[in-house]
Amino acid sequence: MTTETDLRLECLGKEKAGVLYGVGLGPGDPELMTLRAARLIGGADVVAYPALVGGESLARSIAAEFISDGTAEIVVEIPMTAERPPAQAAYDVGAALISTALWAGKDVVYLCEGDPFFYGSFMYLHARLSSDFQVEVVPGVTSVAACAARSGRPLVARNERLMVLPGPLSEDELRIRIEGAESVAIMKVGRHLAKIRRVIDGLGLVDRAVYIERASLPNEVVCPLAEAPENAPYFSMILLTKGADPWL
Ligand SMILES: C[S@@+](CC[C@H](N)C(=O)[O-])C[C@H]1O[C@@H](n2cnc3c(N)ncnc32)[C@H](O)[C@@H]1O
Repeated sequence: MTTETDLRLECLGKEKAGVLYGVGLGPGDPELMTLRAARLIGGADVVAYPALVGGESLARSIAAEFISDGTAEIVVEIPMTAERPPAQAAYDVGAALISTALWAGKDVVYLCEGDPFFYGSFMYLHARLSSDFQVEVVPGVTSVAACAARSGRPLVARNERLMVLPGPLSEDELRIRIEGAESVAIMKVGRHLAKIRRVIDGLGLVDRAVYIERASLPNEVVCPLAEAPENAPYFSMILLTKGADPWL
């Protein structure tokens, strides 16, 4: 069966449609962006990026100095809710806007904080657009790597295993997983800080945990978990290393 997409590709020739680049920007400091990311952003016909409805886009602010004058911009507005359907509807709208630019032969660079395929919103656009268009993913420095660097502690050594946990997990699940783990990176801390702190305290591991907020940005905070502020922003992480220090 010939689909609408097949017909469009036949008319246009796939090589004439634009290319979609999902570009990792690293954790915040523009100096942590790859050379490839900077080059693609500077040469883009169109840049697209996520922003909370009515809010600033961290991704755009990281890339700002590399965006050339005259580059068109597509904002994918994400509603402020943990519910999945409204966010998925926002990615439908974003994918439609991006595909219009791609069908017109424009290359689109989608800006992603950190790495695009590591808890990155780019994956929702990739799922919607990769069957119709050529897509290239450019990896970026993840927040886990950046937070480990700023904490001054190696994350894993020798044959240790690293577990990555999202803060929204239940208290019980966090306890069970942290208990069975060696090194742990807890992401999306934000409003879950008190719960995570209770779990780590209860396991007697508070001395092994470091709190990092906005790693590599001007308002960065790095401190032992015991000294972390009451309220954490969304861009915060806890790193916990249980293994023996590798230099011992
Ligand atoms: C949706 S995930 C995006 C992860 C990103 N794609 C990456 O590769 O690191 C958002 C979470 O990443 C972590 N994060 C991202 N940037 C950070 C930073 N600069 N400092 C601390 N944590 C950060 C936080 O835990 C935040 O809640």
